[in-house]
Amino acid sequence: MREVILKAPGDFAEWRCAARGLLASGVTPDEVSWRGGVEGASLFGDVGSGAPAGPLSLPRELVEIAERVICHRDPEVPARLYRIVWRGARDRQLLARTTDREVAWLRSADKAIRRDVHKMHAFVRFRRLGEEAGRESFAAWFEPSHRILRLTAPFFQRRFYGMDWAIVTPDARAIWQDETLSYGPGGSKDEVPESDIVEDQWRTYYGAIFNPARVKVDAMRAEMPKKYWKNLPEARDIAPLLAGAEARVERMREAAVSIANPLTDKWRTRVPDELLLDDDVKTLDDLARAVDRCTRCPLHCRATQGVSGEGPADARIMVVGEQPGDQEDLQGRPFVGPAGQVLDAALEEAGIDRSRLFLTNAVKHFKFEPRGKRRLHQNPTTGEIDVCRWWLDKERAFVRPALIVTLGVSALRGVTGKSARIASMRGAVHGLEGGSKLVATIHPSFLLRLPDRERAAEERKAFVADLIRARRLAA
Ligand code: URA
Repeated sequence: MREVILKAPGDFAEWRCAARGLLASGVTPDEVSWRGGVEGASLFGDVGSGAPAGPLSLPRELVEIAERVICHRDPEVPARLYRIVWRGARDRQLLARTTDREVAWLRSADKAIRRDVHKMHAFVRFRRLGEEAGRESFAAWFEPSHRILRLTAPFFQRRFYGMDWAIVTPDARAIWQDETLSYGPGGSKDEVPESDIVEDQWRTYYGAIFNPARVKVDAMRAEMPKKYWKNLPEARDIAPLLAGAEARVERMREAAVSIANPLTDKWRTRVPDELLLDDDVKTLDDLARAVDRCTRCPLHCRATQGVSGEGPADARIMVVGEQPGDQEDLQGRPFVGPAGQVLDAALEEAGIDRSRLFLTNAVKHFKFEPRGKRRLHQNPTTGEIDVCRWWLDKERAFVRPALIVTLGVSALRGVTGKSARIASMRGAVHGLEGGSKLVATIHPSFLLRLPDRERAAEERKAFVADLIRARRLAA
């Protein structure tokens, strides 16, 4: 029987060196016993460091898994891994044998390690130690379930490249100093300060992103298991935040009615009720005020105001967008935000004077999802577009444009009442009921979302070409 004594359990390089020697000497798993954690022991016990260490021919995936699984705390791991590696050197399909007991064990041990790594990436919290020669230094205490420090240190190296730091765990420490990563012995919690200003920032941040309306306590516990709480500055806020969640949701519900729609009450008292009646909308101005009173769908509840179209009543071209955005909702005018700027530039390039257009939207209220202080645009549903067509039809009846340009699919649906892809309508001129012609093109915000500059330039060119065609058709 051979005995291998590992000096540093969890150190893949040490285990690999020993395993290579054993494999090369043809030592079967049953002929070797593994012991670990013996300080000052010789690396290979009585295997002898002179064992030939030729290259190991193993499936790459198996080597990668072994590198992780060696970090597992189970003391049997070096032996179990050697058994699998012994088999893997003879059977390259071994990992595909999912019903094999040893393979199943390997997979579940690997899963435990990957989960532990994920938690360490998420839950290490650095405390500031000080600053020297313009470089700040930080330290963190962390207790991983397994010996995963070497697996995780490169992540922190990439993430916190510009500062010096140490992560201390009970088994070992990683030190990043002067752009060099090194490892040292384990330590204790007392080596790391209890709290600092970064901690307060964490707590403030956590309190700010905590959404009481989305609390799922079980999911939260699964993601942030209690064993990590003692070292997380924000953890002490969890209980009070949870306790106050219901009351906060109630307050949010109340606030949603009064804050999200600050202008509505003002307008409500200003606009005579009778203006809501179809017969009394006699001018585009009447229509604009009536749009703001619209409660035909729930979108009015959150929006600041209804945004109707603007432009001369005798415009030859009507341009229809999707719905007001954040800026349009606040200013009460269509296309004054980022998409409006893209549109303005394209109109200018196409030789179209914006002030001679009637600009409007398929939907008159801003649809959004509140996200902290931001309001994230949401696409209107076909139902919302169809309900709002009542207003678009009225605008069309007032303006009677020779040509309608639709920007994007929602506008196309608003004008035609049918869903269609832009690509299927683009490049041709379509007739509409009432005698107007239709040119369908993309929405300018599509150009804002394209990450590839070349593609964006091409799409923009095609957009301008559509506008030029529209100008010529309407002339
Ligand atoms: N997007 C639109 O579709 N319309 C606007 O008014 C602004 C942005």
